[in-house]
Amino acid sequence: MKRAWKYYSGVFAHENELDDILSGWYGLRKFGYDVVNYLEPKIIVELGTHKGTSFLSFCNSVRNNTLSTKLYAIDTWQGDSQTGLYVSEVLEKLKKIIKKHYSTQNIKLVKKSFNTAVTQFKNKKIDLLHIDGLHTYNAVKNDYNLWNKLTSENGLIIFHDIHCKNPGFGVHIFWSEIKKENYTLELKHSNGLGILFKNREVYEKLRPLESSWQAYYSTVAQLDYYKNFPKNKKSSLAKEYEEKLKTLEKVTIRRNNELIKENDALVKQLATINSSNIQKIAQKYYSTRKKIIGK
Ligand SMILES: C[S@@+](CC[C@H](N)C(=O)[O-])C[C@H]1O[C@@H](n2cnc3c(N)ncnc32)[C@H](O)[C@@H]1O
Repeated sequence: MKRAWKYYSGVFAHENELDDILSGWYGLRKFGYDVVNYLEPKIIVELGTHKGTSFLSFCNSVRNNTLSTKLYAIDTWQGDSQTGLYVSEVLEKLKKIIKKHYSTQNIKLVKKSFNTAVTQFKNKKIDLLHIDGLHTYNAVKNDYNLWNKLTSENGLIIFHDIHCKNPGFGVHIFWSEIKKENYTLELKHSNGLGILFKNREVYEKLRPLESSWQAYYSTVAQLDYYKNFPKNKKSSLAKEYEEKLKTLEKVTIRRNNELIKENDALVKQLATINSSNIQKIAQKYYSTRKKIIGK
């Protein structure tokens, strides 16, 4: 572990080769790089790698800082109900990038489910565990309970999407539960990153940095987006964005229909509650009207 936290301001060796600007992790890459540099972990395990946005930031840090870290990425590389299913080219592309830029690093891509892969880590101690698989409450709880026991005593567990409240996303609920019993820090941007410390001393050392981290990494994230967002509207990224919007639209329409039904039911309820009152008011109105205008 290094004495001081360093902020990386360079570019990544694989910059612009991944088409990953829409990945939720894009704005957290520099933090990923810096946390690896600080921690100098012997073993990193990532649960949920997809294209490799987070994982490659770890790989790049290991390379630039000449660390002897073993890096494991675990994923079925088939997708899930939240990312959607994706094609085998995603993994092929990741392999190519690793071969091109990180071939001298000790990297293993484990194409298995998290539950199956866990048996091969029984005798290992993980120093940095990144939990970023399916984001339902039950899935994240299962991943944590299964893998937490394999982390080392100075280890860190990082969780992505702790502030994402999209339908079906439950990391924020799970995070609010475990936060109560653990040493934790947070980054709020890019859907939120939760950092859980196994060791109090490590936590105490880094705690004073939390607000500087927030200011620095959220600004760097914005700069990176502006700098790297592709201008060409017909790019594959724009299509991917369109797909995401369509999914969002479907969810919105469904929720809207649910709300309309709820509203109809409430109006009916209100009508029955009010009908007796309305009758009374109407009677009063007609009797007053008769008195004044005689009919
Ligand atoms: C949110 S993505 C990971 C994002 C990635 N960390 C990044 O930086 O962009 C989640 C990934 O977890 C994988 N996944 C979800 N549940 C899994 C499970 N139980 N076993 C293996 N892979 C799983 C999916 O295939 C998907 O690629």
